[in-house]
Amino acid sequence: METYDLIVLGGGPAGYLAGERAGHAGLKTLVIEERALGGVCLNEGCVPSKTFLNSAKIFEHANGGGEAYGVTTTGASIDQKKVVARKNKVVKTLVSGVGMQLKKNKVDVVMAHGNIIGKTEEGFKLEADGKEYIGKKLIIATGSEAVVPPIPGLRESVESGFGLTNREILDLEEIPEKLVVIGGGVIGLEMASYFNSVGSKVTVIEMLDHIAGNTDREISEILKKNYEKKGVTFKLGCKVTSVGTDYVEYEENGKLNKAPADKVLISIGRRPVTKGFGLENLHVEMDRAAIKTDEQGRTNISGLYATGDVNGVLMLAHTAYRESEVAVNNITGKKDVMRYNAIPSVIYTNPEVASVGLTEEAAKAKGYEVKTVTTSMMFSGRYVAENEGGDGICKLVVDTAHNRLLGVHMIGNYSSEIIYGAGLMIETELRIEDIKELVFPHPSVCEIIREALFMI
Ligand code: NAI
Repeated sequence: METYDLIVLGGGPAGYLAGERAGHAGLKTLVIEERALGGVCLNEGCVPSKTFLNSAKIFEHANGGGEAYGVTTTGASIDQKKVVARKNKVVKTLVSGVGMQLKKNKVDVVMAHGNIIGKTEEGFKLEADGKEYIGKKLIIATGSEAVVPPIPGLRESVESGFGLTNREILDLEEIPEKLVVIGGGVIGLEMASYFNSVGSKVTVIEMLDHIAGNTDREISEILKKNYEKKGVTFKLGCKVTSVGTDYVEYEENGKLNKAPADKVLISIGRRPVTKGFGLENLHVEMDRAAIKTDEQGRTNISGLYATGDVNGVLMLAHTAYRESEVAVNNITGKKDVMRYNAIPSVIYTNPEVASVGLTEEAAKAKGYEVKTVTTSMMFSGRYVAENEGGDGICKLVVDTAHNRLLGVHMIGNYSSEIIYGAGLMIETELRIEDIKELVFPHPSVCEIIREALFMI
């Protein structure tokens, strides 16, 4: 039986990053992954959806979208098989990159289902591919899976291929004529965006009275209007009651309606994967469906950590990266804690939505003295040059008592690339007068933050 300083169960962003950092720090490390290195993020989530959305952007430009910019094209078409093939190529490149990084850091990898047998005096005993391993420390990084609730017909729809989760939709080689999206959150909106761009008639059914979850309400409204203009139908405040073989039935104002569909995307949230790998043998403390952790990624069991989606705190790959770093630092004796106040979140629609920190409502609820300024993106020369008819905004939420930023919320392209700068301002608690002295490149969309600062 081989003994490791650290075993990491799961090879997604939380798991492979933990492996890399631990290996780099000199720990004898093993990563166990049953599907593919890179996890959901690289194989069937963040990255593949971005390849789709980039194809959509190119297609939109070629399919009449270039006219406003003086570019006329004819005969543009989209070949979904090639879109999927390119996605697979990108995924393969990045997954092999993860493998190489682990190798470079001298991390062992076992590609098999791992099972926790229990905890002994030597450490955590695991089994994978018929072999047993001991880990002096164990990081559980088993991620999350799509929630498929017990709505009549929903599970059957997944079995028949009519209903799709994020996993299957990214392998769809034909563009459905009619796509119904259940859930107007991040996955739903990104996929609605893609399939709308490439010609599907998309209907989004959302239980809440708004899309995009906790996004600033004004921004989610702008996003909705943009997509309505592009032809997406939103059924808000509607509950799905059943799924047939070619329709989704939903309740709207007490009445049952049917939305015809060729395919249905189920994107109503994800839940931590905590079953099927012997977790029960450790008697770990849970927080509802997730493994309960503290700010160093520790569970109630000494030597056991849980990072990434499985701890249910913030299901984002970049949160997982940092949580794993914190856990590995803790294991190697370096003081480090996880802070969640400046974690950016992005919806890669067109226009993109990005935010970091608190919304105005959340800041007020926390008792801050708040001032909010909202600027049109039209104050950025580059934005005007590149976004005909654009209606983007940038909103700053300011703590007036301490004169610092609490939140930055944007809608408009490049927001995804700009938002980390706003995160830096929040994380380092820069004062407004200090930020005002920063020089931004001109012309750039990021200048909008500077413009907004001078409106405070
Ligand atoms: P989500 O939590 O973002 O959105 C789910 C939506 O479905 C909510 O708006 C909810 O109100 C609605 N809903 C729930 N039950 C419903 C029902 N029965 N009928 C109609 N609507 C219903 O979940 P989503 O989009 O599945 O994403 C899962 C996770 O993946 C999130 O934690 C997200 O952060 C992460 N993710 C992040 C991305 C990014 O950062 N760009 C991209 C994709 C996913």
